[in-house]
Amino acid sequence: MSGAMVIRAYETSDLDAVIAIFQSAIRGIASADYSPPQIAAWASVDRSAFAAQRASRPTWIASVGSMPAGFADLEPDGHIDMLYVDFAHRRRGVARALLKAVACEADRLGLDALVTEASITARPFFAAQGFRVVAPDTVSKNGQTFQRYRMRRDVVRPRRARDR
Ligand SMILES: CC(C)(COP(=O)(O)OP(=O)(O)OC[C@H]1O[C@@H](n2cnc3c(N)ncnc32)[C@H](O)[C@@H]1OP(=O)(O)O)[C@@H](O)C(=O)NCCC(=O)NCCS
Repeated sequence: MSGAMVIRAYETSDLDAVIAIFQSAIRGIASADYSPPQIAAWASVDRSAFAAQRASRPTWIASVGSMPAGFADLEPDGHIDMLYVDFAHRRRGVARALLKAVACEADRLGLDALVTEASITARPFFAAQGFRVVAPDTVSKNGQTFQRYRMRRDVVRPRRARDR
């Protein structure tokens, strides 16, 4: 990885870059855990729906040497819908840095917990970041069914003096 990593807010001009990251993460990383038909179904993107989804909630971009390398989002109830890292930038702390930004925002919003439905691929990442599995889960997309896991991490705040 060359260049410093910066976490910044998503801009509409990032749309094609985040779609490319989404597809790279699925085809290059998640393909170890899901079948080729599942990967094709998951990676298929409706560009305008994807753009609308990004506009509907905060999304963070991790850029490395000014190139987008990963992205994550946060819905108002603490749900993380998307966390994807480009194949070329995997296992270099990009997702960890994105999750830090998401957690910071969750804290600022006064949320109690972060929740997600982690893929088989993402489960070890979330577990390493302190999330626990609440229940197994399945979802269907484009005619394919996917195993995943509902996971949760409480937002921990330092206790104030008067709470002690
Ligand atoms: C899950 C994902 C976002 C992780 O991104 P990443 O930038 O590679 O993760 P990081 O480098 O920040 O990993 C931080 C730590 O998480 C753990 N971790 C991450 N990926 C792991 C894996 N495949 N197996 C075991 N542990 C893993 C490790 O403890 C890692 O620290 P280490 O590399 O020092 O050992 C990425 O693999 C991805 O995009 N996967 C495909 C798409 C996907 O499933 N997205 C989630 C949808 S719910």
